[in-house]
Amino acid sequence: MKERGKFIVFEGIDGAGKTTQINLLANYLREQGRAVYCTAEPTETVSGGLLRDALSGASRRTICEMAAMFVFDRINHNVNPVNGIQKMLGDGFDVICDRYYYSSLAYQGSGTDPEWVGNMNLNCPEIMRPDICIFLDLTPEQSMARINRGRATQEIYENEEKLTQVRNQFYRVFEDLKDRDNIQVVDAYRSVEEIHSDIVELVGR
Ligand code: TYD
Repeated sequence: MKERGKFIVFEGIDGAGKTTQINLLANYLREQGRAVYCTAEPTETVSGGLLRDALSGASRRTICEMAAMFVFDRINHNVNPVNGIQKMLGDGFDVICDRYYYSSLAYQGSGTDPEWVGNMNLNCPEIMRPDICIFLDLTPEQSMARINRGRATQEIYENEEKLTQVRNQFYRVFEDLKDRDNIQVVDAYRSVEEIHSDIVELVGR
């Protein structure tokens, strides 16, 4: 039987540079001879599409609807028999996931009953716990500066007040989960290379 891969999650407020660091880590692991599968939430499935419509403001959803839709999307992401997280890990791939339940706890948890959002995600038998969560940390001011530089459109969660709230919520979530999950906060306001080398060290532990 193949050795199970590592399940690595990246989180961060918008503009933290997740995409760059995910690509660098994937390349690094492949150079080490590992098979790597990169994935993201919301997913590219029908449920992910519904979520993107809600995030862009194209359709209106309540926070509870959003929280439930993210859970549904996440369950399918875990158990999909073709390329689900569990299938890929079982096939020996390291799975790198751009956002996961920490985002639900931070974004939806700050707008409705956080315990309910936590229970749905953390107590669901079909939602796996990652081996490591890497949080790329930026202050909201640093994040807004990057967002404004790089993009034409802003999603509903991208304003400074909201980013402050979400970052605080991430910190609260990490405090609550510190004995349960392996969460590593990485200062993302440094050079790409410095951040990458910290991440390589953390993943290799
Ligand atoms: P997207 O632009 O797809 O990715 P990113 O901002 O990571 O580059 O946006 C995803 C948005 O979805 C982001 O604003 C956070 C939000 N989100 C939640 O609110 N809850 C969740 O559970 C997840 C996975 C994401």
